[in-house]
Amino acid sequence: MKAGLIKLAVFLLVIFAAAGVGINAVSAATPAISAKNIHMKVGQTYRLKLKNAKKVVWKTSDKKVVTVTGKGKLTAKGEGTATITARSKGKSYTSTVTVSAGVSTSIVIYFSATGNTEAAALKVREAAAADIVSLLPKKAYIADDLNYHEASCRANKEQNKKSYVAYSTVIKNLDQYDTIYLGYPIWHGKEPGVIRKFLKSSDLKGKTIIPFCTSGGSGISGSMANIRSLASDAEVMDGKDLTYASDDEIKAWTGSFAKNKAPAGTAENEADTMIMKIGNTEVDVVWEDNASVSALKELASSGLTIQMSMYGGFEQVGSIGQSIVRDDRQTTTSAGDIVLYSGDRLVVFYGSNSWAYTSLGKIDLPKDKLTELLGSGDVTITLTTDRGRAK
Ligand SMILES: Cc1cc2nc3c(=O)[nH]c(=O)nc-3n(C[C@H](O)[C@H](O)[C@H](O)COP(=O)(O)O)c2cc1C
Repeated sequence: MKAGLIKLAVFLLVIFAAAGVGINAVSAATPAISAKNIHMKVGQTYRLKLKNAKKVVWKTSDKKVVTVTGKGKLTAKGEGTATITARSKGKSYTSTVTVSAGVSTSIVIYFSATGNTEAAALKVREAAAADIVSLLPKKAYIADDLNYHEASCRANKEQNKKSYVAYSTVIKNLDQYDTIYLGYPIWHGKEPGVIRKFLKSSDLKGKTIIPFCTSGGSGISGSMANIRSLASDAEVMDGKDLTYASDDEIKAWTGSFAKNKAPAGTAENEADTMIMKIGNTEVDVVWEDNASVSALKELASSGLTIQMSMYGGFEQVGSIGQSIVRDDRQTTTSAGDIVLYSGDRLVVFYGSNSWAYTSLGKIDLPKDKLTELLGSGDVTITLTTDRGRAK
């Protein structure tokens, strides 16, 4: 009998381990507010949650700025800043809400079956100060529908047939938005049927669509052709897998679209020279003539300081603070090469490496001078332009 109980305990442990049920899931987790800083436009609503808490009392510090219902639904009433407090079991959790005037022209539209894409969508909504709406399938997915190991599960069948899956969500005033952040999980390399249905049945003429996904590792690229063909009236930007993206990365990513929308550089701007300093030393650079250099110039025009770190005994690498347009190609670099890595990092070489980069330019200095400048400790690189200097 005792041996039987031990066997049962071991079996249950194995099952829990296989199901990924950790200790945290069993023990009571501490409450946490779903967003600490919220930006809203007058008239917008937002659902704030106190995770891991049941009885919650919600309060606002200023009803003229934002109201809150007993379920944590916020409504932005007027410009200003207010604090929302959630009280549970004698403890308070706060969130700061900043309300600005005018209607939002961006919206996050997403479908999420098990919550991963929803979590990413909430971050995108926060970073882009956009409205948000979830596409809810008319027939909700249950666990068996998503069991993709089972060839005939509902999701597999829909993906095989490239089905259009009906949803019950009504998106009010889609006309109001010029930018749609479109979020979805990757199912068998592609977008789910709910997303296909949305794209097929909506008037997207003239809109900008910015796809994002969460995935188990496949990434978003396999879905892009379908998204582009279903939204042929819209401008569809390259999508991004946000599965492991930090809040800062998401902010930089949404920010890059806001920048891209700034008026294009004038002929005078284009002729502007970008000046690079490594520490206090100004170096001569032959810049490439490509879209990434133009985008970098735009950032440099208001002064860009990049904290670099030595890496691998052949390069210095540092974040430019946001993603810019990229055209990565497999490259073997040499001393003096300046490249963009992963869309948001500047790399300057005093040795060589092989990777997929976007070429930005080349420093006109011999290898020993470059090693002197770059090979003996982390440096700061500053980029300015003639225009920036004149300011
Ligand atoms: C039917 C199905 C098919 C999937 N196919 C893939 C796939 O091809 N590649 C991948 O990386 N992940 C795949 N996944 C994993 C999901 O993309 C991943 O778990 C995603 O974060 C789920 O998002 P959600 O929680 O918003 O639904 C699949 C999941 C399901 C349910």
